[in-house]
Amino acid sequence: MPDYQVIVLAAGQGRRMNAGKNKQLIEIGGQTLIEHTLQVFENDDWCDSIYVVIHPNEQKLMGDLIGKQFSKVKKIVNGGDERQDSVREGLLSLEQKLVTFVHDGARPFVTEDELHELYEQTIKHGAAFLGVPVTDTIKQIKDGKVQTLNRSELVAAQTPQAFTYDWLKKAHDYAYEHKIYATDDVALLEYLGHSPAFVHGKLSNFKITNPEDIQKAENMLKINRLDY
Ligand code: CTP
Ligand code: MG
Repeated sequence: MPDYQVIVLAAGQGRRMNAGKNKQLIEIGGQTLIEHTLQVFENDDWCDSIYVVIHPNEQKLMGDLIGKQFSKVKKIVNGGDERQDSVREGLLSLEQKLVTFVHDGARPFVTEDELHELYEQTIKHGAAFLGVPVTDTIKQIKDGKVQTLNRSELVAAQTPQAFTYDWLKKAHDYAYEHKIYATDDVALLEYLGHSPAFVHGKLSNFKITNPEDIQKAENMLKINRLDY
């Protein structure tokens, strides 16, 4: 059977959510956000192991919450100041050199279909990412000058992003050495001259970011439950 490992990021502060706590600890439908997200990987037979990156102040809290509940969680490690630092900490803690997924803990609605397609594309192309074509017209504003970008060429990148272990490690080592920061991991591949495959994902794999996303997530859960 195909197998992959996943780094799940939960070390952010959730500033835009403004909930007075890490947004991953907000309960939706009776379970915290991080539990919902980890459950997806626990359930996926193709997933071999999970590495969770947390905030250093939440070691006890997260350990109690997820340490025993998920059999695939191999390590819980402390993250860093920026998302990229947290991915690096996760990467340094891996024990196996499997295909490696990087996923935001704040995206609980990724589906097994999407995970499996990502895996297949990674085997073929070395790396792959989920995303959706943008529906708004995107403007670039630079030094007060507005420029309209070609919408047909634009997609909004989501996670998971998936990599052969060596590509992800080399991309992060290069970025670390040259002090390059990017807002996602596939961006770092560009410095190595690699291009990931694009996997057309679903809008339902949105990132819980702002307070209004909580109601949206509650609604999604209700819809998913009706599907069973
Ligand atoms: N993340 C992380 N380490 C950081 C920053 C972010 O592990 N230093 C994680 C978050 O926990 C989240 C994911 O990366 O699951 C995507 O980041 P984002 O949605 O921006 O979360 P936060 O940084 O927590 O939110 P905000 O930017 O609003 O503060
Ligand atoms: Mg952030």
